[in-house]
Amino acid sequence: MKVDLRINGANRCADIQPRKTLLDALRENFLLNGTHAGCEHGVCGACTVLVDGEPVRSCLMFAVQADGYEITTIEGLAPAPGELSVIQDAFCETHGLQCGYCTPGMILAAHALLQQTITPTREDIVEAISGNICRCTGYGQIIEAVEFAAARLRIANTPRPHYGVHAQADEPVVEAK
Ligand code: FES
Ligand code: FES
Repeated sequence: MKVDLRINGANRCADIQPRKTLLDALRENFLLNGTHAGCEHGVCGACTVLVDGEPVRSCLMFAVQADGYEITTIEGLAPAPGELSVIQDAFCETHGLQCGYCTPGMILAAHALLQQTITPTREDIVEAISGNICRCTGYGQIIEAVEFAAARLRIANTPRPHYGVHAQADEPVVEAK
């Protein structure tokens, strides 16, 4: 049947069998292979995508059920082709991945958390990724990656001095180098 979906900010349409999972539709119909197939029965979290901003296991949802929702896959997080989001970059910086199979799901779970707060506790981070299984890196560096991303987001949101001509008279002027 013809299914209209909203994926990564774009309207997408495909002829999809009603029994096809969102996971398989993303990978096979829309060629978004960053969503990984692991256990395919809701245990590992490798297939995590965001549905209206909430982490959801796409192996447990039929594609037709996603009609009317905003779907975000790992491909939708990068600000532009060839660029990385703050969280993606933090995973690279801290070596928060090894084989990378769990990584898209981890990053989307972390993204959902950091959309809610950029001051998460360690417990908040552990809770946020508790549904995602990593088989090779261990969780220490993944937690560190999320903490690092949160710290960067806090810095990015801190008001900075004005530069040059945009400065107001009573504000400090910092010359760009
Ligand atoms: S593939 Fe969906 S939870 Fe494992
Ligand atoms: S990095 Fe290999 S499963 Fe997590």
